[in-house]
Amino acid sequence: MRHFLLFFALLHFCCILQPISGWGDVGHRTVAYLAAKYLTEEGSQLVKDLLSNDEGYDISDAATWADTVKQKRPYTRPWHYIDALDNPPDSCDVAYEADCSDKGCIVSAIQNMTHRVNDDSVDDTQRKEALMFLIHFLGDVHQPLHVEGTARGGNAIKVCFDSRCAQENLHSIWDTDIPHKINGLKHSLKHNDEKDAAAEWAERLYTDNQKRTLIAECSEILKPLKCAMQWVKETNRLNCEFVFKNGIPWLERNNLGEEYYEGAAPIVSEQIYKAAVRLAIWINALAAERISRSRNSFVVQG
Ligand SMILES: *[C@@H]1O[C@H](CO)[C@@H](O)[C@H](O)[C@H]1NC(C)=O
Repeated sequence: MRHFLLFFALLHFCCILQPISGWGDVGHRTVAYLAAKYLTEEGSQLVKDLLSNDEGYDISDAATWADTVKQKRPYTRPWHYIDALDNPPDSCDVAYEADCSDKGCIVSAIQNMTHRVNDDSVDDTQRKEALMFLIHFLGDVHQPLHVEGTARGGNAIKVCFDSRCAQENLHSIWDTDIPHKINGLKHSLKHNDEKDAAAEWAERLYTDNQKRTLIAECSEILKPLKCAMQWVKETNRLNCEFVFKNGIPWLERNNLGEEYYEGAAPIVSEQIYKAAVRLAIWINALAAERISRSRNSFVVQG
């Protein structure tokens, strides 16, 4: 009996502590490590200045921070997603007015945090938190089920992934199981293994994409809503093109670690890559704006 109760206590514990997050930690850490490779000198400096700390944490720890404060700051939860009221696979679309709740959503959060990073009327701790939120949200905005309202972003669709059946849902396999399988990782990992795996994945994605150019990305940090909506709509389309393509009954019936995984893996890699590039371009633009503003104020002051 006692073991039985303990079992339920643990089950409860697991599922309260790690329910609906964004990409799992490996995905978020990879976005951060890969973005770091595309930062300009000024962009790097901005990250270094804002994240400076004596706890030895790096940009990948900053990327996972937003998930760790959800418990203590429940009002930040809606900032991690937007519940598009569409109907995949038949129709996909996101509308800011209709889909962003009055408690906020990932689009309004990206807007808010973008403004706050360079806002000198907020203190350094707040600017640092704004950057950490941004690093996280630019990851989440590339996870198709973070920009989808159907079945609570896939959380309500129970699925099987390889030998894991009981605890998995469509959302969690996109967050964690698919990224882990791409990297040959076990389901749960220790902190340092996670960082090593993410650093290696970032290196691989960097090499694989070396011949691509980074231009023509939305970088209007003064109009964050425009860029964020562009990213959200693009990611949301993947729900029609792939994520829900065969319909929910099919997803519930099949082992998604097989054929479905083969199709999903390249999409996940591409999304992590895009998130990293866009994050880097975003941070570089924030750093450039900050520098040009301080130059201008020198001129004004004579
Ligand atoms: C912007 O972020 C700050 C700091 O987290 C928060 O207090 C505020 O409510 C946010 N504003 C909006 C409109 O989301």
